[in-house]
Amino acid sequence: MSSSLRWIVAASVLLAFWGVVMCQSKYSWMWYDQYDEVDQHFSTVNGQNCHAKSKEELVLRPDAVSQLPVYNQLLNRIWYKNRTALIHLHNMALNRAFFYSYILQKMNDSASFYIQPNWLYMYMSSVADINANPYTLNGSAIYFDKDCHYPNWYETVPFNNTLPLFGPKAWRWDDWQDQDNYLREPTRRTAAVADLGAGRSMNYTHPMFKMNPWYGKWLPDLDGGLDSLTKFTYYVGIKYSNETGKFTKDEFEAYPFFGPSSPSAIETDERMLPVVWTQPYFDCGRFNKWVVSAVSPVVDYMPRYSNWTHLRRQRIVGVIVMDTEFKQTDFNACDVGMGNPGPSYLSHIHRCRTTTNCKHRMGMGFRRGGYNCPCKTGTKYPWNVEPPWKGEIIEQATDTEYFNSFTCEVSDLDQLEGVSIVGGTNDVSSGGLQLETQEVSSLVGKDVLARHIRSTNESTLSFQPGDGAKKNVYGDAIWSLQHGHVIKSKNDAGEEEESIMPVRPLVRVPYGMHHAVESVHDKRPITKAQINEALRRRHQEAQSARRDNVHGNPARPDKESKPKPGPEPRGQSYSRRKRASVFDEQAFNRMMRIFRQKDTVNKGNCHTLASHNLMLPGDVAYGVHTQFEVEARTALRLSHFLNNFLQNTDPAENFGNLRGGGRLHQEHVFGEVIANVMGNFKIYSAGVFFDRYMFENQDGTKREFFGPWAYRKDGGYYAIDTAGLNTRYVDEEWFQAMKGRWATNFFGLETYKMRSYIRSNPQGTSSIRHEHFPLIYKAPEYSAGYWTRPRFKCDGMVDAWVVTYVTPFFGLDKLKLKLEFKGVVTVDVPLNLLEINPCPQGFGVANAFKNTARCDYFSTTCSVIAGYPFQRGSYKCACRQGFEYPHYDGREWFQGSLLESEYEKKIRGLYSRYDQLYCRVAGASQLSSPGVLLLTALLLSWVVGQRQL
Ligand SMILES: *[C@@H]1O[C@H](CO)[C@@H](O)[C@H](O)[C@H]1NC(C)=O
Ligand SMILES: *[C@@H]1O[C@H](CO)[C@@H](O)[C@H](O)[C@H]1NC(C)=O
Ligand SMILES: *[C@@H]1O[C@H](CO)[C@@H](O)[C@H](O)[C@H]1NC(C)=O
Ligand SMILES: *[C@@H]1O[C@H](CO)[C@@H](O)[C@H](O)[C@H]1NC(C)=O
Ligand SMILES: *[C@@H]1O[C@H](CO)[C@@H](O)[C@H](O)[C@H]1NC(C)=O
Repeated sequence: MSSSLRWIVAASVLLAFWGVVMCQSKYSWMWYDQYDEVDQHFSTVNGQNCHAKSKEELVLRPDAVSQLPVYNQLLNRIWYKNRTALIHLHNMALNRAFFYSYILQKMNDSASFYIQPNWLYMYMSSVADINANPYTLNGSAIYFDKDCHYPNWYETVPFNNTLPLFGPKAWRWDDWQDQDNYLREPTRRTAAVADLGAGRSMNYTHPMFKMNPWYGKWLPDLDGGLDSLTKFTYYVGIKYSNETGKFTKDEFEAYPFFGPSSPSAIETDERMLPVVWTQPYFDCGRFNKWVVSAVSPVVDYMPRYSNWTHLRRQRIVGVIVMDTEFKQTDFNACDVGMGNPGPSYLSHIHRCRTTTNCKHRMGMGFRRGGYNCPCKTGTKYPWNVEPPWKGEIIEQATDTEYFNSFTCEVSDLDQLEGVSIVGGTNDVSSGGLQLETQEVSSLVGKDVLARHIRSTNESTLSFQPGDGAKKNVYGDAIWSLQHGHVIKSKNDAGEEEESIMPVRPLVRVPYGMHHAVESVHDKRPITKAQINEALRRRHQEAQSARRDNVHGNPARPDKESKPKPGPEPRGQSYSRRKRASVFDEQAFNRMMRIFRQKDTVNKGNCHTLASHNLMLPGDVAYGVHTQFEVEARTALRLSHFLNNFLQNTDPAENFGNLRGGGRLHQEHVFGEVIANVMGNFKIYSAGVFFDRYMFENQDGTKREFFGPWAYRKDGGYYAIDTAGLNTRYVDEEWFQAMKGRWATNFFGLETYKMRSYIRSNPQGTSSIRHEHFPLIYKAPEYSAGYWTRPRFKCDGMVDAWVVTYVTPFFGLDKLKLKLEFKGVVTVDVPLNLLEINPCPQGFGVANAFKNTARCDYFSTTCSVIAGYPFQRGSYKCACRQGFEYPHYDGREWFQGSLLESEYEKKIRGLYSRYDQLYCRVAGASQLSSPGVLLLTALLLSWVVGQRQL
């Protein structure tokens, strides 16, 4: 009894031991990496405990965010798509820095002291940044350094006195539990704004202050040594107008001001950049999330109001800080390389297997698995997989799954595409593809078919088809090439050379099968039924072609698609393949006309052309809505600011000893439009156009027209009051359209809120709620605005093809009861930077370029290649599932530009590879070994079982 008990105990101990040893976690392959490290830090801090944490615990490593936009590379680098948010943040910080630098220096004298932007202006400006950018911008602030702000808004502060600190900061307020939010859903339409210089322990210049990684970037600016490098003098040419149809002066008056620096394209020193980035930090007590900030300096001429001008110098008096949420910011988990330059702590943590590449996937933010693993060249997806392998699925795999899957199968046969190898050692060339001789010969030495094509030029092409057929020289030559026949060709010396191609048949798609594809968006593998259907159609087509021939009328008028007699086995299978019907010849011709029209207009001849030549159809601007959204939101921000200001300020209203109100001064609006242009390379011009008698002068009188409009030209910046032009902006089509829509009908405007906290006294002992809490204003959303059709702005100022975004703004009527349409805000963006989409799209899509890509839609799918704006051929044709890329040239897809040029050659009757540019059916893989083993094991056990019986 006891001995058996001992046995049982021993056995269970042993079992438990085995359990510990054997039963490791199913997920043990997921090793701890940099992401876990950052994530651990990230998730230990929250809004409740952040006050108790030390300053070090409230920051993440600086390289946790990579590919931060750099001012002098914004235009010459391709940023991954979701970097638009950070680029916008960068540009908005710059925009505000230009605005405040301009306005503070323009209004630096004591005469304009009282018309400087007051506290309400700054509050509303920051709130507009947040409310007009619901997804990209979560905080906006201007922090003045110690004793750098001269308030014109305190009754009790004498002229020429400063506030110790002043820092209005707006952040997104999560309004889901506000009283008036019945749905209890966050609306992203509420901003809180407070003066961070007020309240206890709010000295943000102090080293112990926790949330100020931005402070040391530019402040305090006490030493003038680097002034000439870090500050830059900008000249803005301005033409004012105080009478309709006339400018005050005919010439531009140049107004210089100091602003953030403007480094050259090769500058790498961070101190010389106009915008720098902070490391991620926790915005404790305000937004209560991890944020990343763009910081830009505000320059003023200090000290102000002194007669001793030799004491004054341009000084950085404050910084603009724009925050975005760290969690929303993508990181690139792939290896550091060309598309993913370091330093980046979170790169190289992807889990792609060795047969696959790693490609960043945008829009995942700070989450695992933001990448795809497409197959490398020469490999293909297993048949049962929806390509590509997705990072987030890989990372959820168990050990067994991970080690037995997510790899691509090697496809055995590769060809070198269009490479001519003459003489064998060093004379290598190919259309657009430069290959090193050695590389090629090593490829040739490998399991690769090297084609023996000497030239792709018609005049020197002299293939002798080995099959005896003499008709179609190109088709035959190619056919022979692919079927491994003896090929004769002349070499340079005129001798005939023979080369034998290995006989390894290519798997070809039977002619006509592409008809099987009903929808090009369909990425599913082709079914047997589809193939049968295709074969049936092909048969019918052949029949009708024969009938046509009998009756003597050719099937198609163009010569290349005439039925071609050829050797029997080939038949029609290897004659020219027609592209699937989604390619639209008419659309293509129309596209060419559009390109021609666009190219014929320039600033020299635009005056002589009829006005319809200066317009393109509206569907040419397809995509502007998404690609230039952030530029449009720059206009929307200004609209939000004007809405808030015109609906909520009263010139005569004071709040205790705080002066409220104030009027919009024309300089303010000039400054805003100039900043819109200076802050963003992609904005050619920007304007604010007040409707008739809607702009109030400082004395309360109304001006008939007021339309400040800024533009860039030859590297300089100019602004004019368009009221001074001979033509009236109110007669323009876009103004009419906006006024017609919004003059009486305000349906579609949204309600936005501003919860403001102000300082209780000039010393800023505490922070209190503002009398109007929250302040409410109505404003349009992005979608309420309108994009014009592309037009050539032939005005001697912009002189380029632009698309304009127009959005309205509103104030209150005389009785302050109802909304009133006050005017519009515009930005012009260059058509040249618009990326066109030539891929197939549905019938209802208004895209002038759809269906103009020449992909082979049976075997490939079309997608746009980013970074080649307004260019033909900026698309790629990638193999669909079930097909594989047949060439060994380092790519996995056909480039649109190659297809276009090959097609051009084909049309001109030159030797062209156009008809070979499709993917071939993926070869059947060998029976996978686990299956074989299982089968064998079953068979064996059955046999053994039989014998034992
Ligand atoms: C804030 O801190 C700085 C640095 O310690 C100090 O010089 C300054 O006087 C402080 N300002 C206020 C208003 O307390
Ligand atoms: C406009 O400005 C010019 C020059 O400053 C001045 O002579 C003229 O009287 C002004 N006109 C009006 C209507 O204020
Ligand atoms: C304003 O203050 C500066 C420096 O404190 C002083 O030099 C200047 O004279 C003052 N100006 C006036 C008009 O009081
Ligand atoms: C500065 O100069 C102006 C006129 O030139 C004079 O009225 C003012 O009193 C001076 N201010 C000081 C502080 O010297
Ligand atoms: C960027 O990512 C966020 C989520 O992280 C997503 O909401 C947004 O749409 C993305 N932006 C673009 C341009 O893809």
